[in-house]
Amino acid sequence: MSVKILAIESSCDDTGAAVLVDGKILSNKIANQKVHEQYGGVVPELASRAHQENIVPVVDIALKTAGVKPEELSAIAFTQSPGLIGSLLVGSCFAKSMALALDIPLIGVHHMQAHVLANFIDDPKPDFPFLCLTVSGGHTQIVLCESPLSMRVIGETLDDAAGEAFDKTAKILGLPYPGGPLIDKYAQTGDPDRFKFPEPKIPGLDFSFSGLKTAILYFLQENQQQDPEFIQHNLADICASIQQRIISILLNKVVKATRETGVKDVAIAGGVSANSGLRAALQEYGQQHGWRTFIPKFEYCTDNAGMIAITAYYKYLAGDFASLDAVPTARA
Ligand code: KG4
Ligand code: ZN
Repeated sequence: MSVKILAIESSCDDTGAAVLVDGKILSNKIANQKVHEQYGGVVPELASRAHQENIVPVVDIALKTAGVKPEELSAIAFTQSPGLIGSLLVGSCFAKSMALALDIPLIGVHHMQAHVLANFIDDPKPDFPFLCLTVSGGHTQIVLCESPLSMRVIGETLDDAAGEAFDKTAKILGLPYPGGPLIDKYAQTGDPDRFKFPEPKIPGLDFSFSGLKTAILYFLQENQQQDPEFIQHNLADICASIQQRIISILLNKVVKATRETGVKDVAIAGGVSANSGLRAALQEYGQQHGWRTFIPKFEYCTDNAGMIAITAYYKYLAGDFASLDAVPTARA
């Protein structure tokens, strides 16, 4: 009998629903919340309300697109942690109600594990063990993956996440939230060697981005004293230089991790892995260092329910189900 899973992702500001049949994603739908743009960041209260509005239509369209009826489903999966608690509660309550009504199992999924397993949606897939650089708005980790459900964080950020480094510097540049994709866009026509920003000296496999943010702030303040329109005149070069530095901070630690572990399969995951500069640089580093590299399709990089569905599939096969009193948690 085939395994049909409906997965729901509601950890932050996007409401996602996906349908998986026997390990293949048949639909992956998302409702983005525009309401936060005017506030320069996600407003948790507004995010929960928008999830309430969006969840039924998004699930409905995901099921219809996949051609799967609710009564055919084998299990319902939801993001259990980490994330905004009000947002997680909307997805978990919905998933529980549906699992209860259909009398089928419930599967709780860890959002960061799901980002890593987005690399298992399409072929080619990494071999175990592999390393995954997981870079999102809230996390920056190097993960050593031994099997689909066994992973260990071997390096992580001590302060800001890579996504925050993009978003916060974009804010300093006067760009709207989320600034990561805009820095990416402007960087494409800029000179990445024009401005030199510092690379922090952090021991081991951990990262730090707060010094970079401060360096950029001072650099802009200084230059704007001489030319009040410094940012407008140099936006592409500034974005390209910032992006290049964030990428080198990330990938130099990955080089170190491959040396320490001897692992040569390297994947990236999370919202920042949608960055075109990082995607290209990973391939260049891969050629230079003899790695096999893996990058999920764009739609599986930023928050999506497809990654929740593939993780739930492995959990389903392992018989790892959640009880109806499972509680979402903001922290992992
Ligand atoms: O994984 P994700 O969608 O949500 C979290 O779990 O946090 O990641 C969102 C982050 C944001 O910081 C956003 O600016 C960043 O991913 N991001 C990008 C790009 N697309 C999304 N950063 C740089 N370049 C991009 N193209
Ligand atoms: Zn995420």
